[in-house]
Amino acid sequence: MTKNREKLIEVKHLKKYFPLKTSMFKKGKQVVKAVDDVSFHIYKGETFGLVGESGCGKSTLGRTLNRLYDPTEGKIIFDGRDIASLEQKELQPYRKRMQMIFQDPYSSLNPYMNVEEIIDEPLEIHTKLSKMKRREIIIDILEKVGLQKDDMEKFPHEFSGGQRQRIGIARALAINPDFILCDEAISALDVSIQAQVINMLEDLQTELGLTYLFVAHDLSMVRHISDRIGVMYLGKMVEISPSDELYDKPLHPYTQALLSAIPIPDPMKAQSNKREIITGELPSLIEMEKGCPFRSRCPLAKAICAEKAPQMKEVGSEHFVACHLY
Ligand SMILES: Nc1ncnc2c1ncn2[C@@H]1O[C@H](COP(=O)(O)OP(=O)(O)O)[C@@H](O)[C@H]1O
Ligand SMILES: [Mg+2]
Repeated sequence: MTKNREKLIEVKHLKKYFPLKTSMFKKGKQVVKAVDDVSFHIYKGETFGLVGESGCGKSTLGRTLNRLYDPTEGKIIFDGRDIASLEQKELQPYRKRMQMIFQDPYSSLNPYMNVEEIIDEPLEIHTKLSKMKRREIIIDILEKVGLQKDDMEKFPHEFSGGQRQRIGIARALAINPDFILCDEAISALDVSIQAQVINMLEDLQTELGLTYLFVAHDLSMVRHISDRIGVMYLGKMVEISPSDELYDKPLHPYTQALLSAIPIPDPMKAQSNKREIITGELPSLIEMEKGCPFRSRCPLAKAICAEKAPQMKEVGSEHFVACHLY
């Protein structure tokens, strides 16, 4: 597939800090640095995968760049315009263009609404289309996600987990967005269903020209769907690379450790493959010391790693790493 190299989203030095409730005994304001100076971009029509351990800031990064959260600092350039500090009213057209698919379709779908009402809601909010026209769109989108017209009158509990995720996808797609944040969107589904939903997302991407940010901790699935992948560690992006290259030639010691923790299904292979396990303490996001955030767990840490935070540098075509070893 020839790629259009135009950027849809460019994030520059993005920070999202959450204030901590201050304790009576501690002086000063404490913050959780959930996203701490992250820069990257997503090309139009590509799938950018985002991986990293639970709690490293993936969801916060996704939600901040979708402007579900207000950024603490930095730029979010969406299709040429910085939307980082736009007010609600100015954001409205962008809200329509950026949609989200959630991990748990059961809790994100209103149990008291039928499928038609669920998908109609964003259409009502974001368009001025007539009821009849909206109904046509709903029927069309249901077909696109592999559901049927008859499903419109049904309620979420009448569907299986995979089907519910299809309803969530239909709802996100109904208003014709450019960008979809899939935050662990398939993590809760059975493996066989995951593959079906992934294939469907890929087909829809080609058909509708969508751009995806695909957040997941299942590394094999991310490899399959992503063109490029970003690895996050403690609020920071530590490596960005074309998907296959990341798996063939991971550079950051954290990426290497993360990849070696993929479960290997073949028992013969599993025995012969020495698996690296990340050891050392996971530092807190609150009181970050100077130097590299991974150094306390890094088997290759040197003196400089305690002194200076490594900056992202390009080490190959589209391959970036933040590590003093390179
Ligand atoms: N709304 C919030 N208020 C305060 N802290 C939050 C909030 N959302 C996330 N955090 C904290 O930010 C950090 C990153 O969380 P998150 O983005 O959910 O990570 P991930 O999606 O990678 O598991 C965690 O320490 C989490 O506790
Ligand atoms: Mg998350």
